[in-house]
Amino acid sequence: MRIFTLLLLIAASLTSLSAYAEDGYDLWLRYQTLPKSYAKEVNRTIKSLVPGDVSNPTRALAIEELQTGFSKMLGKPLPTKSNASKASLMLLTSKALAQTSNDVDTARLTELGDEGYLITQAKINKKPVTLIAANSEQGLLYGAFELLQQMQLQTSLKELNRSSSPKIQRRVLDHWDNLDGSVERGYAGSSIWDWWELPGVTNPRYKDYARANAALGINGTVLNNVNSKAISLDHRYIEKTAALADVFRPYGIKVYLSARFNAPMELDGFENADPQNPKVRQWWKDKAKEIYQIIPNFGGFLVKANSEGQPGPGDYGRSHAEGANMLAEALEPYGGIVMWRAFVYSEHDAEDRGKQAYNEFKPLDGKFKDNVLLQVKNGAIDFQPREPYHPLFGAMPNTPLMMEFQITKEYLGFATHIAYLAPLYQEVLEADTFVKGKGSTVAKVIDGSLDSHKLTGIAGVANIGHHRNWSGSIFNQANWYAYGRLAWDPYTDSQAIGRDWLALTFTNEEKFVEPALGIMMRSREAVVDYMTPLGLAHLMATGHHYGPGPWVSDLPRPEWNPAYYHKADKNGIGFDRTKTGSNALSQYPKEVAQSFADPKNMDEKFLLWFHHLPWDFKLQSGKTLWRGLIEHYDHGVEEAKAMQQTWQSLKPYVDQERFTDTAQRLQIQVDEAQWWRDACLAYFSEVSGKAIPKDITPPKHDLQYYIKLSYPYAPGN
Ligand code: GCU
Repeated sequence: MRIFTLLLLIAASLTSLSAYAEDGYDLWLRYQTLPKSYAKEVNRTIKSLVPGDVSNPTRALAIEELQTGFSKMLGKPLPTKSNASKASLMLLTSKALAQTSNDVDTARLTELGDEGYLITQAKINKKPVTLIAANSEQGLLYGAFELLQQMQLQTSLKELNRSSSPKIQRRVLDHWDNLDGSVERGYAGSSIWDWWELPGVTNPRYKDYARANAALGINGTVLNNVNSKAISLDHRYIEKTAALADVFRPYGIKVYLSARFNAPMELDGFENADPQNPKVRQWWKDKAKEIYQIIPNFGGFLVKANSEGQPGPGDYGRSHAEGANMLAEALEPYGGIVMWRAFVYSEHDAEDRGKQAYNEFKPLDGKFKDNVLLQVKNGAIDFQPREPYHPLFGAMPNTPLMMEFQITKEYLGFATHIAYLAPLYQEVLEADTFVKGKGSTVAKVIDGSLDSHKLTGIAGVANIGHHRNWSGSIFNQANWYAYGRLAWDPYTDSQAIGRDWLALTFTNEEKFVEPALGIMMRSREAVVDYMTPLGLAHLMATGHHYGPGPWVSDLPRPEWNPAYYHKADKNGIGFDRTKTGSNALSQYPKEVAQSFADPKNMDEKFLLWFHHLPWDFKLQSGKTLWRGLIEHYDHGVEEAKAMQQTWQSLKPYVDQERFTDTAQRLQIQVDEAQWWRDACLAYFSEVSGKAIPKDITPPKHDLQYYIKLSYPYAPGN
């Protein structure tokens, strides 16, 4: 009896262990046991590892990761050898490679720059080996991660012959994490940085964070919120930052800090923070020196200035360029950079909010120092489910522009809704600015190829928190993964990325991957349809931005009100950004402006972004705008239901824990898609005076019901 109980206990603990293993913690580094046939091929091709000189910390991590991966996937570590022997895995820098006799096409290596890698089958000193080669130890680490990824995807090693290098130099995650542990717009629990316990305690999770990012090629992290506190630059906090920098350094990840522009005042009692004040300039120089003394590879500063209440150079009548250049000058001797945000709009400016950043920054083109990147959000308003590309892209050829995407889903259903964001990113990256003829895409602006910029960058506002699965939901991990892949190569297709992520996260089985990819690829469009179809924007409830609030029109700043964006009334709906309205269209090059100018003949995805139209305006389908709007809302709800149904059919392929978690979230998504649809239609029906057509299901409740709903404890606010 006792033995029986013991067996039961062991069985129970094993079950819980395996469930624990599938709680999402391991992200894309799960290293599951490989199927026999593929394992056989790997065993034949790679029998040993030549680690090289592991006194280099980055090399040591590459070897450690390879050993972890091989042990988990094949059940045993790789024996190590000191020299090439038949069927070994070798990691060689180009310098070391040159000292061997080999058959490698080294011309390929020269093109790879500092961070690229080559993986190929080669002959080294006459022995056939699997070779990872690069110009730096960092490149070798990236190559090691790539080999492990390809093994997880079961790519034939014999055919593995690839070289890759990043197209964008600074590939950064922006954490909007506050020093008290809360995360602005964070839906995955509190911050992963424990500022209180740092620098004494470095949680092992910091290393796993670095591994997950290095596996994607992310090479920078801004640790604190853009709405920053000056104390982040205080010596105590610099020491805390240094402890994190030490963990991240061998993974090739630099730390950056959001800097509060008036820090000299708040930290050291200065009278002003005027960039023309020599004492202020000196303060920043001293601060930079202090930082670099303990963080020699510090990346630089991210700055939100004169925006939403943040201090900035405008407080002293100085331009953004003067402010940015002061900081750039301080960082320059150490190779640091400034990422200056273009997200500005003012309550004192009656101009269309969507035009203000362009008006402010376009005249400053060419006025920034060489170590300044101007960080521009993907669209001119604010990370909406859909926005046309920001008109600054292509408009400032003499200034390197850095893309800012939001990975955390502030406006797309937090961590509860599934919305795969790679198609959104891709849509923006592929948008054609035409500034140097057809094919002058946004991707070419930010990778520097259009205007020959050396300094290039991309930022993603992180969706990472203390939640065991990092991102609040399993499918949210896909957005972190996709961001990393696109940061490395902004021309990668979102389907291909989704496919890889699914295989790495769940299983390679096509019967799973195909339908699950279907869920992902339709998810963002579904959200657009049930929240803000046909080019509508910012209909979200105030503050937390969760749920619908198209009726909100009483906030002190006009551009904080949803009613400002949709402008719906008896006569029509939409924001007129043509000549008869704000003429924001004129900020785009003429080819782009023309493509949006005629409401009868444009991509209707952006219709109400640019046009205010009567309710009975005829859409390309021949239906009225009112009818079309209703059908989009209905379609969004149908899509959410279809996603839910598909997920149910995938139960056999997914472990219980992740299946149930996702299923529960999809139920919420279906309910909330309905809520969005009903609330918006109830409201638009009332303001337009248009009845809901007889063949359409009316909203479940009257408008007042939806208006009264409130969510005081919504996260991230
Ligand atoms: C949005 C977001 C804020 C954030 C701001 C920014 O407005 O709601 O929380 O601070 O963007 O990007 O600076």
